[in-house]
Amino acid sequence: MGIELCDAMARRLAEAALQARENAYCPYSGFAVGAALLTADGKLYTGVNVENAAFGPTNCAERTAFFTAVAAGERDFTAIAIAGGKANEAAKDFCAPCGVCRQVMREFCRDDFQIILAKPDAVRVFALKELLPESFSPDNLNGQE
Ligand code: THU
Repeated sequence: MGIELCDAMARRLAEAALQARENAYCPYSGFAVGAALLTADGKLYTGVNVENAAFGPTNCAERTAFFTAVAAGERDFTAIAIAGGKANEAAKDFCAPCGVCRQVMREFCRDDFQIILAKPDAVRVFALKELLPESFSPDNLNGQE
């Protein structure tokens, strides 16, 4: 069973990610990312990348959104929008989630979770299974296929 987000919802999430991006803390890379995560019951959690002088502790926007939502008790998610690019400029290119963030998505989401790459003028929508095929998930530890 696949979830198909309507265009209006994809657009709404994209706008939220683009807006959140303005709060990115990225003094080292100068690359600002925003994310907007939609729960199954329609709540929205946003996140930004939060960098660190020691580099390693940096947290991506997607994981900030997921960890904020999970800390608030959320466990059921439908979609995430992501927008990234040079800080203080409009996002020119699509910004796909890094591998670590894809794995974090898989912890909480099924294969049909929707990933919306956002720019001010366009969106591209993928299912998690397209961006993380043959994934390792909690199912493996539970002995399920
Ligand atoms: N970044 C994200 O926030 N999400 C991604 O999926 C890709 C990379 C951040 C991490 C770092 O602060 C900056 O972008 C440059 O890598």
